Amino acid sequence: MKFALKSALVVLAVAIVAGIAHAQFSKPEDAIRYRQSVMVLIVHHFKQMGAVVQGKANYDKASFEDHTKLVHTLSTMPWEAFMTPDSDTGKTDLEPSALKNKDEFMRAAKDFENATKNLDLAAASGNLGSIKTEFGTTAQSCKACHSRFRK
Ligand code: HEC
Repeated sequence: MKFALKSALVVLAVAIVAGIAHAQFSKPEDAIRYRQSVMVLIVHHFKQMGAVVQGKANYDKASFEDHTKLVHTLSTMPWEAFMTPDSDTGKTDLEPSALKNKDEFMRAAKDFENATKNLDLAAASGNLGSIKTEFGTTAQSCKACHSRFRK
């Protein structure tokens, strides 16, 4: 966990130095790599939460909150990279329809961001019942976007 936290923080620091607020990608390949990297970090932390939710790992409030905070921060990061022109070809699983339906894609992104926020709030409350509910809602929001916009 410590290592995962550190590596995610390094990614965040790099992203900030690179000017995340106005991140612009000079090449579509850079945008693809950036967003795929963020997704890899998201799934890494999400899986560990999943193990707790399914009773396969012990619940520890503090470490669970580490995961929810990271996933919420990560949930805000990749969307501009997804909307970069011409980034729907090459080594990517992005459905080309995403770039033509920017509003819908961004709505799915926003639903996901909101779900991760609620999951983080549930984690802060320490109530395992609401954690499970919000985890389920978040997982649904991953699926909703993937089924529509991921090949
Ligand atoms: C708003 C849309 C959206 C949401 C929400 C979303 N994803 Fe993705 N995800 C994508 C798209 C599109 C790709 C394909 C990216 C590419 O290949 O350029 C992807 C790729 C991935 C990948 C493959 C990364 C790789 O190695 O190339 C993983 C893993 C992943 N998502 C996990 C998740 C998980 C877990 C969640 C929820 C906790 C999630 N995603 C939420 C759109 C989304």
